[in-house]
Amino acid sequence: MKHWWKNAVIYQIYPKSFQDSNGDGIGDLRGIIQRLPYLKKLGIDAIWLSPVYKSPEIDNGYDISDYEDIDPSFGTLNDMDELIKQAQQLGIRIVMDLVVNHTSDQHPWFIESKKNRDSPYRNFYIWRDPVNGHEPNNLQSGFLGSAWKYDKNSGQYYLHLWSPEQPDLNWSNPQVREKIYKMINFWINRGISGFRMDAIELIGKDPDKKIIANGPKLHDYLKEMNKYTFSKKDILTVGETWQTNPKIIEKYTDPKNKEFSMVFQFSGQGIDTIPGKEKWDYKSVTPQELKKVFTDWQVGYNFEHMWLGLVLENHDLPRVISRWGNDNNLRIPCAKMFAIVTHMMKGTPFIYQGEEIGMTNFHFKSISEVRDIESKNMYKERLSKGYSKAEVIAEINAKSRDNARTPMQWNTKRNAGFTTGTPWININPNYKSINVDACLKDPLSIFNTYKRLIQLRHDNENIMEGSFRIYENQNQNVLSYIRQSANKKWLIVANLSSVEQNFSSGYKTKKVLLTNYRPRKSMEKIRLKPYEAFVVSVC
Ligand code: GLC
Ligand code: CA
Repeated sequence: MKHWWKNAVIYQIYPKSFQDSNGDGIGDLRGIIQRLPYLKKLGIDAIWLSPVYKSPEIDNGYDISDYEDIDPSFGTLNDMDELIKQAQQLGIRIVMDLVVNHTSDQHPWFIESKKNRDSPYRNFYIWRDPVNGHEPNNLQSGFLGSAWKYDKNSGQYYLHLWSPEQPDLNWSNPQVREKIYKMINFWINRGISGFRMDAIELIGKDPDKKIIANGPKLHDYLKEMNKYTFSKKDILTVGETWQTNPKIIEKYTDPKNKEFSMVFQFSGQGIDTIPGKEKWDYKSVTPQELKKVFTDWQVGYNFEHMWLGLVLENHDLPRVISRWGNDNNLRIPCAKMFAIVTHMMKGTPFIYQGEEIGMTNFHFKSISEVRDIESKNMYKERLSKGYSKAEVIAEINAKSRDNARTPMQWNTKRNAGFTTGTPWININPNYKSINVDACLKDPLSIFNTYKRLIQLRHDNENIMEGSFRIYENQNQNVLSYIRQSANKKWLIVANLSSVEQNFSSGYKTKKVLLTNYRPRKSMEKIRLKPYEAFVVSVC
């Protein structure tokens, strides 16, 4: 069976920051509908929508209080149906975010569960007695502090691997699973084509033994979920899984296991963290390290038995050019280089909103500009440990999730065309030069590189089906690889550094398919420009 998602390119929208249609400063579904023609122009196959369900928005929608309704700040169920319909008319599918490791503490299940120990919903969540008057154990929350919260009323603790307002569902309860599967089918029946599975590696946990990711029951649950939901249609499922290796990835994505279509390739995300420290303890990255990361994204996998989602950016990561490249004088060639390297790989590429125009990290000057719960908690904690404000703001500028959450930069008008009101988070002042309008006018824009990469993928089977092989070159700053099928052989070359580099290949260029500088006639003993990258068919 040829799955639609195998040679697709997916575009992630962070709805709150994409396009506001009613002037309240918050992006919404009507705003997305307005921008569908833009996405059509880019050529993507599907949109992954970060959560738009009803939510108190403690974690920007990753805390859901009603799975079968839309949050009023984003619109209505009718707007959602309209989005699905209008997107479909343009050949664009909709993928939703499935957040089922936890709910909001405002979800009716949790409100009921909390009422007393005998509530029929008690067992929907994970409640434990105190141990010697304390938390059951020392499990930590992803947003700092204990993962257990005491409930005075019932004298027990509940588990929250994220904020206290995000209590973990009890997946060992079959009633919970049944309700979740019903909800998944509710969306599939509404015309949804896929799900991005939030924090999914956590659902099989055994909190008493402190086994969290990759817990003992994880794959049983996923097989069961697949059986009752996704298997009925050709649904794309992509797991947000961080604790993986090639073996674990096969477990999730080998078609014979009937779990997921793919999981994200997050290997190497830690290279800019000082080893053994927290993500905030950042360090710079060398081109040699980058070369290893990109190599590890592809080598050592048997793609017959697994599949990957390829990602440079998402709503939890800083902007890639600011993080691993150059967001300044070499911003344009650098952004194109990252795009070429990633999109010519095997797997399904995901583009995060704004990546296609080379948006950059924000420069936060004070904590009052920061919106993200994770950054705010970290700020408090580190100040209490004696860090200076300046140090912590520097860490936020390097690593905060808010870097990716500033509004989409559409044009040079007020608020970058994102809203006529006051945006919920500041707009990057560089929107006057970095914006969609400017990119659409310029045939050599980053946008047009992405567009071309998507076309190449759609038109050439060797990108999806062909083999991947590293083309050995002696230069540690230059990555080169071959994508080959029965009729096509392409060489991809990328200078991962900001300075010129030597490269040489005996291959003869048949055709230059894409480059971020001038096309080269020969590849014999050449000096690659800063971040130069190209795709050539060779013989
Ligand atoms: C995932 C989401 C992130 C969220 C967390 C808790 O990691 O991508 O944004 O905060 O799950 O739901
Ligand atoms: Ca709005």
